[in-house]
Amino acid sequence: MSGFVFPEPRIPDAMEAPSLRWGIAGPGWIAERFVESLLRHGSQRVTAVGSRSIERAAAFGAPRGLRAHGSYEELAADPEVDVVYVATPHTAHLDVALAALEAGKHVLVEKPMGINAAQAEAIRAAAAARGLFAAEALWTVFLPRYDVVRQLVRDGRLGAVTQIVADYGEYLPPSHRAYDPALAGGPLLDLGVYLFALATDLAGEATAVTARGATVPGRGGTPVNGRLSALLDFDGGAQAALATTMGGFTPATFTVVGTEATLVMDGPFNGPGGLMVRTTDGAEHRWDGKPGSHVDGLHFQAAAVAWAIAAGRTEVEERPLEKSLRALRAMDAAREQLGIVYPGEHRVPGGVRLSLT
Ligand SMILES: NC(=O)c1ccc[n+]([C@@H]2O[C@H](COP(=O)([O-])OP(=O)(O)OC[C@H]3O[C@@H](n4cnc5c(N)ncnc54)[C@H](OP(=O)(O)O)[C@@H]3O)[C@@H](O)[C@H]2O)c1
Repeated sequence: MSGFVFPEPRIPDAMEAPSLRWGIAGPGWIAERFVESLLRHGSQRVTAVGSRSIERAAAFGAPRGLRAHGSYEELAADPEVDVVYVATPHTAHLDVALAALEAGKHVLVEKPMGINAAQAEAIRAAAAARGLFAAEALWTVFLPRYDVVRQLVRDGRLGAVTQIVADYGEYLPPSHRAYDPALAGGPLLDLGVYLFALATDLAGEATAVTARGATVPGRGGTPVNGRLSALLDFDGGAQAALATTMGGFTPATFTVVGTEATLVMDGPFNGPGGLMVRTTDGAEHRWDGKPGSHVDGLHFQAAAVAWAIAAGRTEVEERPLEKSLRALRAMDAAREQLGIVYPGEHRVPGGVRLSLT
């Protein structure tokens, strides 16, 4: 087998990052893992939590020694917070992020930044107007494995990228908020976002999007999108075939086909793990990253944000806002074809108007 030398991940030690004071907006599933990851692995300090209810904020905050706030506005006003981590459901990202920015706080907003590109653009504009930092918490792109992928593609080690084939399905129980149309239900914003984000990160802006989907019964019997497949075209003829579902687990691998080699990120591709490169002579070469949970990986994004803010930057290199917008534009285009309308958006003859409110 011929040798294939993998680049080293260029991720600095999170313990050495400047220490910021984090305020957590939305004490839910991901917030719990984010805080645990920061406390276990990094140099970051978590100082406060905000919720729509003081009781829920206190229940989350007391065992962790956090200041508890009964509204997202109060959290934003806390003088002991430098940066707010927005971990509410997608439909609340815009309002919570704007409240934080208006109070002079930097923001790290869970993926996707908003329900559509217009919302992400509004967050970008509000941050720019105040000279504050904003980024999408797409944890995958901050992980060491993805830095290897990024370098392999950027340095042409796969040749020219011609195709991306990727899937991400999970079984989400009917009690999950993804079944709630009022919370922008469906697999796209929770799971599919990773497919669109990495495809457009590696291949550029999609020049055309073709999508098919199917509905399933959602909360109260209202239909909600349950699975979605999309074909993205890129300049130069590259294509991405992406499939997401909330009806069951899929291998969740991410394959990048190049003219000289094919790269496969082991599933689930969005977390820590390994990858394989198969060169055109058929030889397989492994990069053995250790698989891990959210707690093993979420601290990388916090450290990257801390370094960027401490250096006076308003965006983070691993996830510039333009790339968050690029992914959302392709997701908007897919939804437009399927007539998937989220709360605050409205349908117009011939499609969907993806308005801000
Ligand atoms: N990076 C990852 O791997 C990952 C994994 C899962 C989720 N996420 C992202 O993280 C975000 C939150 O997901 P989650 O599953 O953690 O959510 P969740 O547990 O369902 O909700 C998070 C919190 O948001 C608050 N909330 C609920 N409904 C709200 C509403 N209508 N308006 C304002 N606040 C509301 C709730 O706190 P209060 O009721 O106390 O205010 C709740 O505890 C999503 O954007 C998702 O895409 C990321």
